[in-house]
Amino acid sequence: MSERNKHKRDFFSSKFGVIAAAAGSAIGLGNIWKFPYITGVYGGAAFLFVYLLFILAIGLPVMLSEFIIGRSSRRNAFGAFKVLAPGTSWKYIGVLGVSAAFLILSFYCVVAGWSLQYVILSFENGFSNKSPEEIGAMFTSFTEAPIRPVITQLIFMLLTAAIVIIGIKKGIEKYSKILMPVLVVILIILCIKSVSLEGAKAGLVFLFNPDFSKLTGDGILVALGHAFFTLSIGMGALITYGSYIRENNNMANIAVNVTVADTVIAILAGIAIFPAVFAFGIEPGEGPGLIFITLPNVFHQMQGGYIFSVLFFILLSIAALTSSISILEVVVAYFMEEFEIGRKLSTVIAAILISVLGVLCSLSMGVLSPFTLFGLNIFDLIDWISTNMLLPIGGLLIALFIGWFFRRNRVQEEVSKGGKLTGIYLTVFMFLVKFVVPVAIAIIMMNKVGLLKF
Ligand code: TRP
Repeated sequence: MSERNKHKRDFFSSKFGVIAAAAGSAIGLGNIWKFPYITGVYGGAAFLFVYLLFILAIGLPVMLSEFIIGRSSRRNAFGAFKVLAPGTSWKYIGVLGVSAAFLILSFYCVVAGWSLQYVILSFENGFSNKSPEEIGAMFTSFTEAPIRPVITQLIFMLLTAAIVIIGIKKGIEKYSKILMPVLVVILIILCIKSVSLEGAKAGLVFLFNPDFSKLTGDGILVALGHAFFTLSIGMGALITYGSYIRENNNMANIAVNVTVADTVIAILAGIAIFPAVFAFGIEPGEGPGLIFITLPNVFHQMQGGYIFSVLFFILLSIAALTSSISILEVVVAYFMEEFEIGRKLSTVIAAILISVLGVLCSLSMGVLSPFTLFGLNIFDLIDWISTNMLLPIGGLLIALFIGWFFRRNRVQEEVSKGGKLTGIYLTVFMFLVKFVVPVAIAIIMMNKVGLLKF
């Protein structure tokens, strides 16, 4: 195996190991918490279709681009550009990525903290004998409180930091391989239950029968941002993972597998949620609390609901953990390399800085809710800027880098090491990264800032 540098580096043990780790990063709160909630806010099926289009035409090619950058440089998100394009400004993609990682992790830990709290509530059988209204009120009073959610958030950050210090590769491959399939099984059982509730059909219509008149410019931008968020792309997390892929693994095939797995889980989450939303008379545009308000209602109508709810929230927390470590790793790698500090200290510094912002996010649900900008509280604002601005800009630059700087021959050489991406597939891929991805992202963003109106 030819290496471009002398450092001794780890590798994922198998192609399945890479898929498990990358899917572990991709599958998380984005799929199960965020996807249903924004689909509800932005109108259902029409939003889903635009999102699927972006996954295919933009997400998949950007993911493969990140893998190519990672494996051909064998470096993290910053070092990669320094190796591949020495003396150029491309490395600032890495700086953009760190900023995005910093912001995303701050609110991600808050939601993961809610999930931890719901593990406890499930254990205590806290949803039994409660009406949908009472379950909704429970969520609101918990998230608006000043202390509890901050503590659960910090506990989650502590877990994330501990794994990043111990070393990512020892843990994630193993966990992801076993736990992700269990999560899928539980989701499928939830789907069956949800669909069989009385009044469930309206939910399926909402999710799958598009009314394109409901689609707004904002909705399109949110669908774009979420395509990035859910696939863990646009900030170099998969550049780092790509750097651990062996040369005999077929990266195009890995990217397709991860994308399909991620999308299937999101749609399963949608099928588990929306029929129940309509059956229980919950508002689909409820916002960030949607799953925390809807699912407990399903659980307590289910046989064995107690066990399922405990298991579900534990697995959701673990799915969040396999994602959060991939986010923190981007910041830690940056500190280690740019400031030459050790892994442990880097992790501690990053975790503390991110937690400060995270506490503000958490408090913005309650005591800090009067502080808003553009009508968004701190939590929503940070989510909006990082997901809908920084990630797409990062993706645009990554596509330009592969399409116009790296170019077809180097792409073909790198991608063909472990499999064939030749002929028509290569041509389509190059066409997407050179033209479709950058132009589509630029148009959608210009529409948002008002430079262009459609
Ligand atoms: N994709 C994860 C989710 O859906 C979140 C995530 C992990 C992420 N790593 C990322 C988002 C890198 C953006 C970039 O929950």
